[in-house]
Order: sequence, then C-alpha cells, then structure tokens
Amino acid sequence: KDMIAEAQNILNDNFQEIGYSIPSKGLYPFQWKWDSGFIAIGFAHYDMEKAKKEMKTLLNSQWKNGFIPHIVFHIETDSYFPGRDFHLSKLHPESNLDYPSTGMTQPPVLGFTLEKMYEIATDKDDVLTFIKDNIDQVYFNHQYFYNKRDPQNEGLVYIYHNWESGTDNSPIWDDIWKTMNPPQYTFERRDTTHVNSAQRPTNREYDHYLDIIELAKEHNYDDAKIAALSPFLVQDPLFNSMLIKSNDAMINLYKLIGGNQEKVAQLEQWQAKSKASFNAKLFDKELGAYIHYDLRNEKPIRFVSSSSFSPLFAGIPSTEQAAIIINTMMTKFGGEDMYLCASFDPTSDRFNPEKYWRGPVWINLNWLLYYGLKNYGYMTIAARVKSDSIEILSKAGFYEYFDARKSEYTIDAKGYGGGNFSWSAALFLDMLE
Ligand code: DGY
Repeated sequence: KDMIAEAQNILNDNFQEIGYSIPSKGLYPFQWKWDSGFIAIGFAHYDMEKAKKEMKTLLNSQWKNGFIPHIVFHIETDSYFPGRDFHLSKLHPESNLDYPSTGMTQPPVLGFTLEKMYEIATDKDDVLTFIKDNIDQVYFNHQYFYNKRDPQNEGLVYIYHNWESGTDNSPIWDDIWKTMNPPQYTFERRDTTHVNSAQRPTNREYDHYLDIIELAKEHNYDDAKIAALSPFLVQDPLFNSMLIKSNDAMINLYKLIGGNQEKVAQLEQWQAKSKASFNAKLFDKELGAYIHYDLRNEKPIRFVSSSSFSPLFAGIPSTEQAAIIINTMMTKFGGEDMYLCASFDPTSDRFNPEKYWRGPVWINLNWLLYYGLKNYGYMTIAARVKSDSIEILSKAGFYEYFDARKSEYTIDAKGYGGGNFSWSAALFLDMLE
C-alpha cells in the first residue's frame, strides 16, 4: 500500500481553490486554525506553494486587534452547525469583515509551523522571504494573547471556550459544565449526520458550548467582559505549550532574518515569564503530570490527558520533570495492549475509547509527543509513538481519531470521526522523514 501517495491525494483533494484546506469532507467544510498549521507542515514536504497559500489565507483572516479566529467561513453552507449566522449575529468592533469567522480562537500553532516550513524547505531563501513577509502578523497575534488573555499578568493565557482548546469534549471540562445550567437550546446538529453520534459530543454538551458563545455575543466578543463573566475560563497546558513553542520559533526566525532586536527581546521576556509560571502553576507533582487550571473557579483540574505531556514539545519541563511525566505516561497510557497515546487517562472512569477527545488517539497529539520525546532524548519511546501512529493509520486509514485499544484492530478496523482527515495525512508525511 502506498501510504505516501494516499496521504498526498487526501491533502490535494481537501485543498480548495481559493487557498485553504478543509479538515474533512462533509463534517468540516471551512478553514480551521490549528488544522491549517498542521496541514501546511504536510504540504511543505512536497508542495511548498500550497503550504504558503494555506498560511497566507489564514493570516488574511486576522482581526485588527491581532486575533486569529478558529473557523473562517469561506463559503456559505448549512451543512455545519453552529455556522456563520450563529457566530456572526454579533460582531467584535475590530473583527475582519472580509473573512467572516467565529469569535474564538484555537491553539497558536503558526509560529512553529513557519519554523517547520523553513526546516523542511529545500529552497531556504524562498521560504525565508515568505517568513519575512508574514511573521509580524504571528507576533501581533501573540501580542494580542499576552495583552488581552492574561488578566493576572502571569504569562499564562486563558481560553474562554472548550472549542478554543482543540480538545473539544475532553472530560477535563466536565466539572465546569456542572457549574453551569444553560437552557435547552433548539438546534439541529449536523455533525451527527456525518458521524455516528456515539463518537461525538452529546446534545447537552452542545447546550453548554452554545451558552458560552451567547454570553460572548451579548458583549460583542469583548475580551475584558469575557474574562470577567465567562463561566469557562481555563489555563490550558496544551494551548500554552503551543504558544511557548511558537515564541521560541519566532525568536529563532527573527534572528535568522536579522534586525528585529526589540521583538526578540519582547519574545524572550514573555518566554521566561511563561515558562516559569507554567512550571510553578501547572505542574502537579503528586499526579506526575501537567494539568489544567480553572481560572474562573480558581482551582486546578486534576486529571491526566494527552495534553499533560505536550509541554515536552515546548521544552518546558526540567530533565527531572520530563522523567516524571514520561513515567506517568508509560504507566497509565503505555501498556502492551494499548497504542500510544490515548487522549484521556485510560485508567479513569471518564475514559471513553470511542468518543472524540474522551479517549481516542489523535495524530496531532502524537506528533507533538514524538518531537517532544526526541527533544528530551527518549528515542525509544519516541520511536514507539511514531510506529504506533503509522500502524493505526495503515490498519484503519487516515481517519480523524482512533481507538487506543489494540484488541479493536481486527481485519476491518476503522478509525472514528471524519475520514480522509487532512492533518492525519499531513503529519504522517512529516513523521516519516
Ligand atoms: C467541531 O465542530 O467539533 C469542531 O471541532 C469545533 O471546532
């Protein structure tokens, strides 16, 4: 089976003429922020022009305040809920009317995507020119995060919606839902016409998701109002790891380009503060893992998920902390009968091996883990993450997410969620190198 050709076909098929990729046909018909970063990394391996286009289109959607949205609604369709009309019935005064979008964001992957594109490029000068022309927008985006999303000035930014985390229906949020009591909204789910509902969030969960957006809309997506009022306000280790890794990438790239001392100095300042706070606040020694912090209710959320290991990717843990969290990962997630890495603690009663972010393996988290483990010199475990990823992709196909239990991989094994999923294809291409 020629998996490389298959992966490239998926990416080419999902690339839309106006210059962005859909994550998966049917289920996700628009451009998603963190998907686009991962997809650009895949394209960089065989079609740099598409990688640049993917990034450029996303950057074009940036708001006047530096914000970059989670979904850009390039087309009109009623095949996705909640779509354009729902999110855009109220507007932020600095939003970008040329690129209708949601008023929430997703993990800040763009800095390290640019650096990856540079590393992969054979024509370095060409990509460096592209970076020169576009990096300031990514910097402006980080400035937005540090100025608007860090009310206690800790160097840790918050997310105000579970869809901002990327790990949409993780059990991490369950206790936050208990603090809310939204009305039962009337809506028609569209995702469950494409995917078995056992693999997707529940309707009641959607009530919570919509309720937070309604509140944000009431205040025209004003950051200060959201920080003061949103029932969901979380410092997420995955999101902040991506921010920190992207800071690092920008420091490296600005130095390559030359002549940006002020920005480099600012990035280094953010970086020092962020890393220190991250280790002080989000490292749970007793659990042996990084955890989320509930800023609204001022308490740590003490569960282990694949996000708990993502700080390895950003070089945040000390050598000692790295050893501790990797030991936790291998003990809880790494049994002989399991593929690495389940998205939620398989030993928890909240683990559900088929349901979206409540247990299945995701290729993007594996990809972060793969590089993170290599960073810290854990070559054997890194090799296992890579070979596990390739094995499930070859057995089940380029799906959106996968069962972590090896026993489920019979002859006609299938993945879960959307098929021909762009980032599964893109990051497969990158991990092969
Ligand atoms: C979805 O619709 O499930 C998306 O992940 C939201 O970003």
